[in-house]
Amino acid sequence: MVGRKKELLIAVVCAVALAGAQVAFAQGYGKEAQKSLYDRLGGLAPISVVVSDFIDAMVPDAELNKNPDIDAARKRVPAAYLKYHVTAMVCQATGGPCVYQGRSMAESHTHMHITEKEWDRMVTIFKGVLVKHKVPEKETGELLEVLGSTKADIVMKGSKG
Ligand code: HEM
Repeated sequence: MVGRKKELLIAVVCAVALAGAQVAFAQGYGKEAQKSLYDRLGGLAPISVVVSDFIDAMVPDAELNKNPDIDAARKRVPAAYLKYHVTAMVCQATGGPCVYQGRSMAESHTHMHITEKEWDRMVTIFKGVLVKHKVPEKETGELLEVLGSTKADIVMKGSKG
């Protein structure tokens, strides 16, 4: 009888401990899920490094620069200026404390007549930079959504090639 009581006590203690661990896990997981994309990416410093690499890869890209309007704009506009504005934009769009103060996407891109094909090239470059920096799959997906939300304003309407 004493033995059975002890077994029962052990079983109750285990059940309570297991339930406690489940609650703790659920709370911890919940906190992680509530974090902004900005925080999950590590904040402004890592975001600025990723954006800097992205601009460094885009500016000299031969495929993009086949478009004379892109080529002319990237020669006229300093890369540092683009890095500053794109960093602020990504910081704001991911829930960070920055305020983007540049021009609208339509205003700053229409004159380059960017095509679907050039858009796809830019996305490939962007994905390559995220892989290089080991950005996790979930965060990569969310960043691609942010990027995608600007497409209608950047790609020339009716363009295919
Ligand atoms: C194929 C795609 C893209 C190309 C070739 C491109 C290239 C450029 C170039 C050359 C400029 C300077 C234009 C000028 O002032 O004459 C510019 C401006 C800018 N781009 Fe892009 N861009 C592309 C997509 C994007 C995307 C997806 C974003 C953001 C998610 C972005 C954000 C910006 C910003 C913030 C500026 C500066 C706006 C300002 O001057 O106030 N660009 N881009």
